[in-house]
Amino acid sequence: MDEHRSTYDVAADVIRARSGHQPRVGLVLGSGLGGLADALERRDVISSHDLPGWPHSTVEGHSGNLVLGLLEGQTVVAQQGRVHFYEGYTTQQIVFPVRVMIHLGVEILILTNAAGGLRPDWRTGDLMLLNDHINLPGMSGANPLMGPNDESFGPRFPGMSQAYDRDLRTQALRVAQGAGITLHEGVYVCVSGPNFETPAEIRMLRRMGADAVGMSTAHEVVVARHAGIRVLACSGITNVAIDEVNSDLEASHEEVLEAGTQLVPRLTTVLRGVLRELA
Ligand code: HPA
Repeated sequence: MDEHRSTYDVAADVIRARSGHQPRVGLVLGSGLGGLADALERRDVISSHDLPGWPHSTVEGHSGNLVLGLLEGQTVVAQQGRVHFYEGYTTQQIVFPVRVMIHLGVEILILTNAAGGLRPDWRTGDLMLLNDHINLPGMSGANPLMGPNDESFGPRFPGMSQAYDRDLRTQALRVAQGAGITLHEGVYVCVSGPNFETPAEIRMLRRMGADAVGMSTAHEVVVARHAGIRVLACSGITNVAIDEVNSDLEASHEEVLEAGTQLVPRLTTVLRGVLRELA
């Protein structure tokens, strides 16, 4: 038995005491993308500081509220602002909110993140649906499933070959096409950060087969799939990776937040459409 299990229950009890909503869909909102939770109707907002065990964001662009409400007829719980490995949290702490959502009864997890685009033809503001990932921290020991397996969530050796639900991806692509929104599909590589990559690292990640690079999401996906939760994930391309040492350009967090704000309306349209089709 995982020693954190009771902590998930305690946090879930506090949420149930504060909101009558029984969410079926979990939403994790990345850097600069927290505004998506504003679209929820009949909202109950809970500060993460009221939730025992909940990890608190130390980064600008992550508000730290949990919002429950309705979106396109679905009952949703949205985590505004996640925490990251580079903040010093363990991967188990990072995935705590997702495991609480699972305790609340969530069956579908939708994740968003800000990412650097590795494809030279992609632009800042583009959207990429994840169809697979490379979890570099997870493959090298920083994996939230390390340690005793909690059988109440899932098996010791979960498969990851269908990490990103095919039907949900198809729906997202259909919605985007119908709305005239360009939605790329590709492989997300998770790195620990916090520094942005060197040009040599960018070229290495491209050769590995990645299309976008970011500092989150894979940890949560691993835990969700361990528990058999269906996953949909979308990256907002907030900057185009710099692959050349003589470039005058430099990635910055300000650029990431600004681009994030700009793409929220399109991301909202796509996710609303997916939720509508779930009904
Ligand atoms: N690299 C890693 N993480 C990121 C980036 C990036 O370029 N942009 C947003 N998150």
